[in-house]
Amino acid sequence: MKTETKILITGATSGLGREMAIQLATRGEYILASGRRVDRLKELEAHARITGLPLDLTSEADIAKFCAEAGPLSGIILNAGITFADPFLSGDFETDVALIQTNVIANIQLIRSCLPTLKNHQGRILIIASLGGLTPLPYQSVYAGTKAFMINFGLSLREELKHENIQVGIFAPGGIKTEMTDIPAMKALEKDLAPVSDVARAAIKAYDKMPAITVPGAQNKLISGLSKLAPRSLLARQAEKIYRKAHPDLKSK
Ligand SMILES: NC(=O)c1ccc[n+]([C@@H]2O[C@H](COP(=O)([O-])OP(=O)(O)OC[C@H]3O[C@@H](n4cnc5c(N)ncnc54)[C@H](OP(=O)(O)O)[C@@H]3O)[C@@H](O)[C@H]2O)c1
Repeated sequence: MKTETKILITGATSGLGREMAIQLATRGEYILASGRRVDRLKELEAHARITGLPLDLTSEADIAKFCAEAGPLSGIILNAGITFADPFLSGDFETDVALIQTNVIANIQLIRSCLPTLKNHQGRILIIASLGGLTPLPYQSVYAGTKAFMINFGLSLREELKHENIQVGIFAPGGIKTEMTDIPAMKALEKDLAPVSDVARAAIKAYDKMPAITVPGAQNKLISGLSKLAPRSLLARQAEKIYRKAHPDLKSK
């Protein structure tokens, strides 16, 4: 039986990853969808050309086993991510470590493990970062740090891997209406969240064209442009005011 070359999408059980998996499969790509929720993977397999393979990004052993079973890949979309959208003081170190493991370390392990197959197929790596990696994001401080890491890491890797015929691109969206933003801290900002289908379409365009960084949406482009002109400290101060006002536990302080 012929083994199809697939595009791996992490975090395909929900939100942006799920939508990208469905849109890409609909246009004819073979997708390897991953995530921890096996029922959601089964549901995705109802779509033609989508195969589910469970993966827990907090486990180094699980990632190694997953990569050994993944088969030939023409691309990986590093989409899975988590946040902690509350004051840093109210969090704990365990949550910080899980966030950095999921958003950063797991991605580095996946890239390293997939390099041989990507090299064989002139592959692509699309890193789903965030506008919060281009500008400071108070009350999601650890998250903002992980996304800034992935942007600087990805841009550096892009230049190295072009000599291996592997393309690397960064996709940095602003707020999207998904499970990630379905939390009390984001309620007041709900109207500013982009529909996930639109953002997935923009992400797929970025996957096809592979520019260095894609920021989808006019308002996000404006913020990203501002981040190149205004001091980061000023942007951080403004963002802190916006998120303090929006957060149910902080607005009265
Ligand atoms: N939503 C936004 O406003 C927004 C804005 C900018 C950037 N982004 C970025 O876009 C990406 C997708 O976010 P989303 O909004 O679509 O989030 P989401 O709906 O919460 O989906 C997150 C995905 O990550 C997976 N995941 C989380 N922890 C995992 C783990 N330990 N192992 C394996 N998979 C794990 C989840 O699958 P399981 O739970 O099944 O494991 C799920 O499929 C993230 O990188 C996020 O940072 C989102």
